Amino acid sequence: MLGLRPMIRLAKVRKRYRTARPDELALRDVDLEIATGELAAIVGTSGSGKTTLLNLIGGLDRNYEGRVEVDGRDLGGMSDRDLARFRNLHIGFVFQQFGLLEHLSAVENVMLPSHFVRGDSPVSDARARAVEALTALGLGHKVDEKPRNLSGGQKQRVAIARALFFKPKLLLCDEPTGSLDSTTGRQIIETFQALNAEGYTVVIITHEQRVSDAARRVIHIEDGRIVDPGRTN
Ligand SMILES: Nc1ncnc2c1ncn2[C@@H]1O[C@H](COP(=O)(O)OP(=O)(O)OP(=O)(O)O)[C@@H](O)[C@H]1O
Ligand SMILES: [Mg+2]
Repeated sequence: MLGLRPMIRLAKVRKRYRTARPDELALRDVDLEIATGELAAIVGTSGSGKTTLLNLIGGLDRNYEGRVEVDGRDLGGMSDRDLARFRNLHIGFVFQQFGLLEHLSAVENVMLPSHFVRGDSPVSDARARAVEALTALGLGHKVDEKPRNLSGGQKQRVAIARALFFKPKLLLCDEPTGSLDSTTGRQIIETFQALNAEGYTVVIITHEQRVSDAARRVIHIEDGRIVDPGRTN
């Protein structure tokens, strides 16, 4: 693990939402490194800045001061178009509410990222790849089901399969077990541990002790500051 360049590097990152008071910062001079291959949890009270931090790392929000690098690329230096492409190919997102499109089947949801590659040749084997990803997550028998016919845990595995479609370098997860019962949540966490063992770098925001216990590193954030960067590998 040591010696690899960091997957994530933030330097002096400061974020203020447009509607906030001048002194009200969502992130206050955050410096943070997460190495390639880590499984890190981010914990902190509600409103402490966790989602804000993940959105900046994921290139979903460009309105900040300081520097955000992912896999050695300075996100702030990319055009909107390059950033969108980088995000689609190299970063997988998993959210509490799954974010599936209800009118599409499981396999069509997983194939969605293939529709957003602009300027590249179309992904010809998208369906086969999506079926493979679903099968690897134990959903080979549900590929043609709509999300409404799936359990919460199954929906989250569809969302994970979609996040993995392009085999990204990095998986960013915001409360991925927040809508699941404890048994299902445990299975999802085991899925993230297995993906991490395969080499994916995984960052998980969580309120749950059980989830942070499963991470090898726990980063504590309070009031927009990293108050404990956790143990690095
Ligand atoms: N779109 C927004 N516009 C203005 N302020 C925002 C916006 N999103 C978040 N904030 C503020 O920024 C701060 C950090 O919010 P953030 O959503 O990052 O917290 P969080 O740690 O993810 O909380 P939770 O655990 O409740 O999800 C809070 O004070 C919040 O009110
Ligand atoms: Mg949040």
